[in-house]
Amino acid sequence: MEMKNRPRRLRQNPIIRGMVRETRASKDGLIYPIFFEEGENIKAPIDSMPGQFRFSPDRASEAIDECLEHGIDKVILFGIPKEKDEVGTQAWHEHGIVQEATRAIKKAYGDQVYVVCDVCMCEYTSHGHCGILHGQEVDNDSTVSYLERIAVSQAAAGADMVAPSDMMDGRVGGIRQALDDNGFQNIPIMSYAAKFASYYYGPFRDAAGSAPAFGDRRAYQMDPHNGREAMKEAMLDEEEGADILMVKPAIAYLDLIRELRYRTDLPIATYSVSGEYAMIKAAGAAGLIDEYGIMCESTVSMIRAGADIIITYFAKEIADAIRKGDIG
Ligand code: PBG
Ligand code: ZN
Repeated sequence: MEMKNRPRRLRQNPIIRGMVRETRASKDGLIYPIFFEEGENIKAPIDSMPGQFRFSPDRASEAIDECLEHGIDKVILFGIPKEKDEVGTQAWHEHGIVQEATRAIKKAYGDQVYVVCDVCMCEYTSHGHCGILHGQEVDNDSTVSYLERIAVSQAAAGADMVAPSDMMDGRVGGIRQALDDNGFQNIPIMSYAAKFASYYYGPFRDAAGSAPAFGDRRAYQMDPHNGREAMKEAMLDEEEGADILMVKPAIAYLDLIRELRYRTDLPIATYSVSGEYAMIKAAGAAGLIDEYGIMCESTVSMIRAGADIIITYFAKEIADAIRKGDIG
């Protein structure tokens, strides 16, 4: 056959495939989520997320050492308090679970480990919603003032970055101001800018005991049908001073990662959430898919779409895959 264009010329062997590869991965963009619960000597497996655990702060070093062995030096912390109440007091308490876990990690590792704290109320409120209730509704503006307190208390405990995940309006601006007023001008905000009301959070809510006691989160998290609105949310957060913009979940929203890539010069993060992890683990355990291969391919899709940063329960395994050359 006569053909000028034969794309297979560039696929003939691993060396040439490596040369023309468009997507390069780095473990430096990976953040590993860790769940902390109040108590002592706890490392409890999370049923809905095989391979993931809830730790007490005194055993933080087990979780962190394992990360460091794989080259992961960034973590995002979630807390499960003993006591919950209407206003999520333990979320902003000086000795709250996330504040204590942050202190424990920072004391032991200093600048060796970068600690991001998730800013939200749902793990701490008795009703499981991400803010302050007025009747059956989450009140936006009073919630923002609580989120500001949470962020400041986390920064005071040593957090390197805060990541609001509540989806209230104006919270990035509020948190920026509150951090600045308290001397934390240099603490960046990674905003969960386009966070969808997603079924993919199911396993996380089991892990964190944060399912809403009534209703759902559709009055604050986004409608999965809305891509333009996701861009609007992201642009608002950028104007309010966000340093990093996040799209969440990842796999089902790759189109929005890509679109945001064209619209912002900020770094883009994506959160490959608990449901994505649980599906891959379950199908792998059932022998239905090649778990490792699917993990690698899914990760590549997020980077190809435009994500600079990936928050993932597979962070350690992905770092290994990058080192082996199976990703990037
Ligand atoms: C708290 C929060 C959630 C997740 C991250 N922060 C749960 C939710 O919004 O219900 C989900 C993470 C995951 O599913 O892995 N608002
Ligand atoms: Zn929440």
